Amino acid sequence: MQLKDLIFRTRSYRRFDGAHNVSYPALESLIGLARLSASAANRQPLKYLLYNEPEDCEMIFPSIAWAAYLTEWHGPIRGERPTGYIIILGDKSITESFSVDHGIAAQSIMLGATEIGLGGCMIASIKREELRKTLNIPDRFEILLILALGKPVENIIVDRVKGNDIKYWRDEKSNHHVPKRSLDELILKL
Ligand SMILES: Cc1cc2nc3c(=O)[nH]c(=O)nc-3n(C[C@H](O)[C@H](O)[C@H](O)COP(=O)(O)O)c2cc1C
Repeated sequence: MQLKDLIFRTRSYRRFDGAHNVSYPALESLIGLARLSASAANRQPLKYLLYNEPEDCEMIFPSIAWAAYLTEWHGPIRGERPTGYIIILGDKSITESFSVDHGIAAQSIMLGATEIGLGGCMIASIKREELRKTLNIPDRFEILLILALGKPVENIIVDRVKGNDIKYWRDEKSNHHVPKRSLDELILKL
């Protein structure tokens, strides 16, 4: 796949085929991509928790907030929930400042997921203390991001931003529309 295609197809998917299990080796292979990604001062302070067992996925799900703009939708229903999770942690024994490392690692992982037929969503809206207790995450680790993964079952359409409306939305056929600003708006000429 060409890089542009890969990026185009790496959308934020929030509905999955609940019958498709994300394998543990697949999750490990995605961490193999994060491992090779850039890191401020090459400190590599990120650690990863991987989950693909249904009981674990069920425990993690309540700590996540989905799609704030879709006020009528309260997240994926049973049968359409993620079947794998990667939780990105910052190891405070290495540094207190994780810079943008987790964003870079997350994008490497999401691109890799697309390449192997998976998809998912980066989640920063997390009930962190609840999740820490549920998964027994020691205080030494900061909970930075959750990557919710699975085999996507939703159709996502990339639109142009109209006016200044950047909110994603769903049409009557449940297609998810995500507006992107135009190149002209992004590239400044001062
Ligand atoms: C740092 C970060 C945090 C995000 N947190 C959430 C979240 O908590 N819940 C959610 O449903 N989506 C979350 N998203 C997904 C964004 O809503 C999504 O990237 C945006 O709507 C654009 O869609 P696209 O990824 O398909 O381009 C997050 C994305 C990023 C980059």
